[in-house]
Amino acid sequence: MNRLVVVSNRIAIPNGTKASAGGLAVGIMDALKTTGGMWFGWNGEINEIGEDDEEMNVFEQDNITYASFGLNQNDYDLYYLQFSNAVIWPAFHYRLDLVNFQREAWDVYCRVNRMLARRLLPLLKADDVLWIHDYHLLPFAAELRKLGVQNRIGFFLHIPFPTPEIFNALPPHKELLEMLCDYDLLGFQTESDRTAFLECLSFLTLMQSKGKKHTAFGKHFITGVYPIGIEPDSIKEMAEGPLPPKMAAMKKDLGDAKNIIACERLDYSKGLPERFLAYEALLENYPEHRGKIRFSQIAPTSRGDVQAYQDIRHQLETEAGRINGKYGTLGWTPLYYLNQHFERRLLMKIFRLTDIGLVTPLRDGMNLVAKEYVAAQDPRDPGVLVLSRFAGAANELTSALIVNPYDRDEVAAALNQAATMPLNERISRYKDMMAVLQKNDITHWRKTYLKDLLAIPARSQVLGEAGKVATLPRLA
Ligand code: G6P
Repeated sequence: MNRLVVVSNRIAIPNGTKASAGGLAVGIMDALKTTGGMWFGWNGEINEIGEDDEEMNVFEQDNITYASFGLNQNDYDLYYLQFSNAVIWPAFHYRLDLVNFQREAWDVYCRVNRMLARRLLPLLKADDVLWIHDYHLLPFAAELRKLGVQNRIGFFLHIPFPTPEIFNALPPHKELLEMLCDYDLLGFQTESDRTAFLECLSFLTLMQSKGKKHTAFGKHFITGVYPIGIEPDSIKEMAEGPLPPKMAAMKKDLGDAKNIIACERLDYSKGLPERFLAYEALLENYPEHRGKIRFSQIAPTSRGDVQAYQDIRHQLETEAGRINGKYGTLGWTPLYYLNQHFERRLLMKIFRLTDIGLVTPLRDGMNLVAKEYVAAQDPRDPGVLVLSRFAGAANELTSALIVNPYDRDEVAAALNQAATMPLNERISRYKDMMAVLQKNDITHWRKTYLKDLLAIPARSQVLGEAGKVATLPRLA
């Protein structure tokens, strides 16, 4: 059997101090737990090593080999903060206004991808299957190919892929697209993302397609849609069971008040200020809820060294204070804003306790919190999910209350509907969504992706006579 080698910018090292709060790490960990294999990536630390000091920490636990490294300050600043998170992340989330392009950062982004490919090379075996994740590593296959790697290399993009109007505004858009074509399989969260990618390509170059097989820049590749899922049974298990004493006391304290919960990394793509305003509209348009509802927003700091993230944090602090000042009373605080990290197991219990899950990103590749909220519910008395139509999850969770996060009155109306929804309707919506979550779970995601990747012949199996990779007749 082929070994699975997963590469992502950040990896979740067991007991590591720099655990990632994002969906990517959770999804990959769930997938690797079953298959075993290697996980290669950044440990989240910044150290002083130079470019060529290949200081790697390799160890094995529970059938997974973790191969991790630190980044030096310059690479952290330019590859991670600048190009990945101040160019690609905002552009791919349709925020060209936040893009801060610097040619030096683009050069370092490419150089770090080259350096990581060189570091991975000695750890690779001939029949390994490589699965590369997310926007930090768009050029990674191109760099591995330059080093002669013939293995199957797949890519999965966890975030949206923007339409040509946005993508083509990135100065190195052509280079990025050409590099992406060095992957054998490109996986996307939704059909719109896959289509947007193909549209970008056809704008730039002659592309031949036959179904999901394509040729562009003289390279052959396949595209597919693989919406990432969760492990509903393990979420259920985390959510059930006795409450920690503090939470039990809090539940008692709440009495009959309705509870709204929202939880995500503090990121401008998540639509937090818009959400605060929608909650304010609920209190304004439906005054009967005043004193009887509470909204808790959990938002741990993320990428706090990037200016746009500092700005959104200040904005939220101001808004939370304003809303509480305007509507709060001596005995009632309408909005709790917690800029803190919560342990996942505890979070699932909180989800189960709350009446409404509010997930309203302005753009999101998938959003696993929406899926986790549903899976954590008590089947006999489930809460209601209010979900943005701009989250990839809205394609599957069609029985949620789907809203436009830019329309605060529409979101307020959905919150009111959720707060007053009869039990039988809540159960029926919950059942519909659980059926989808069980079917498209994390195992389904991994299996369908890897099945498609393994169906592609490795380049080493189709070597031309001169020892060079032959032009693969995959379109036949
Ligand atoms: C999102 C991205 C991931 C990233 C995570 C956390 O889920 O798709 O690639 O790891 O956010 O962000 P961070 O910058 O802390 O790794």
